[in-house]
Amino acid sequence: SEATYQEPHRPQIHFSPPANWMNDPNGMVYHDGEYHLFYQYYPDSTVWGPMHWGHAVSTDLVHWEHLPVALYPDSLGYIFSGSAVVDNDNTSGLGQNGEAPLVAIYTYHDPEGERAGRDDYQYQGIAYSNDRGRNWTKYEGNPVLPNNTGIRDFRDPKVSWNTAAGQWVMALAAKDRISFYGSDNLIDWEHLSDFGTDQGSHAGVWECPDLFPLPVTGANGESKYVLIVSINPGAPNGGSGTQYFVGEFDGTTFTVDPSFAEDVTDEQGVWLDYGRDNYAGVTWSGIPEEDGRRLFIGWMSNWAYANVVPTERWRSALTVPRQLTLHQTPAGYRVFSQPVRELEQLRTDEFTIPEGEESANRGLSDRFSVPANAPKELELRYALSPDSKARFGVELANGKGEVYRIGYNAASGHYFSDRNSAGPATFSEDFVGDLELAPRVMDGAEVSLHLLIDRASAELFADGGATALTEIFFPTEDFNQIRLFTEGDGVRLLEGKGYTLTSIWPQ
Ligand code: FRU
Repeated sequence: SEATYQEPHRPQIHFSPPANWMNDPNGMVYHDGEYHLFYQYYPDSTVWGPMHWGHAVSTDLVHWEHLPVALYPDSLGYIFSGSAVVDNDNTSGLGQNGEAPLVAIYTYHDPEGERAGRDDYQYQGIAYSNDRGRNWTKYEGNPVLPNNTGIRDFRDPKVSWNTAAGQWVMALAAKDRISFYGSDNLIDWEHLSDFGTDQGSHAGVWECPDLFPLPVTGANGESKYVLIVSINPGAPNGGSGTQYFVGEFDGTTFTVDPSFAEDVTDEQGVWLDYGRDNYAGVTWSGIPEEDGRRLFIGWMSNWAYANVVPTERWRSALTVPRQLTLHQTPAGYRVFSQPVRELEQLRTDEFTIPEGEESANRGLSDRFSVPANAPKELELRYALSPDSKARFGVELANGKGEVYRIGYNAASGHYFSDRNSAGPATFSEDFVGDLELAPRVMDGAEVSLHLLIDRASAELFADGGATALTEIFFPTEDFNQIRLFTEGDGVRLLEGKGYTLTSIWPQ
């Protein structure tokens, strides 16, 4: 049946499956002009169940074409999260006619083994495609990495070619650590090292790692390794969230950078996104060197309530694709997130907001184009007086009296998101709660807010992406009013721009 993408709460500028349950993005790989996106998918229900890999492709990271399910559960188990690579040199021998195969590396989760209390019910398998990802064949020798560690959680392989190691390196989540494995053919894997039992946040199980080098912006070609680790529960604002480490990888071992270590030995962790709705994200492989970007996408939900959010035909969307960059900040090395520039093609009807002292509200509803519930983008740059204790940002509202606010609180030095009155939250106690979610990373008198607003989400990229905050909401009617609000003194808008965004789905 045809997806209409007009159901209540249906995201207009975000990927969501036509119907039924989705969680983690999987196997993102760029190949032959296409960005592939696979995802944890249960095609028979709107709640989590036996996992498949759903599949979509895009030529621009913005518009997605749905393809048939790529991987189905089999006698070895459900198909859990994992990654995909282009095996350029056919190291696996799975290519045909001299072409580079696509190889997916994923976790098998054996539900019977789990029920029987076995320790080895999660192990890794591979599948390959020689027709641009349209058809997948599971490798007959699966599993390629059985679990003889005695650790029950053993999943989410993220594989990349590592130049320091001169081989493929797999980062794998094993309960309270990331285990690295090496292989020269994607089939035979050898344990290299473990990282993390005494680093970062351990309030929940570690999942969905990613390891990649990232140049330090403005540092003459110097680069560091970033290790992303999702954790459930234990996020700073409840439920599941994604922390990361900055350091070195010598081909065998990951070590946290000394300047970063202080942040992660106190168990607090450093988080890629301080909102409650960006989980299990990893980055694309196969991005051509001439492009050189590190592109990320996350699941825009939270295990604390993902199964019960009030959508009927489908459940969950992904964040917009983001570019990750690494910077030296007053807080040390930090990964910044920004929406990919390809999204700018969705902008229509740009307007500017006149500069001025902000002391009350500025209505913006009639500056955006119809329909009033269309997705929106705002770029706002403010100057703060040194003693300002103001709270300011963007407010969405509807005729039902429901209100959502996102912005900055100068008194606490936190970015906040307030969805406590944004619609009924009876589906989960965990959906409402604290507002002061994201500590400000940068200092300085200028605060910038870059916002992407969809029917059921807001994504804030503050201070050039130094702080990212992603949250979902479910008003009983779409928000159709928008304004800037300011409570308190000492806030001046230096520059403001707004855009109405075009839906990515056929209307
Ligand atoms: C993360 C996760 C992964 C697992 C998958 C199962 O959200 O729990 O660890 O592979 O989801 O769907």
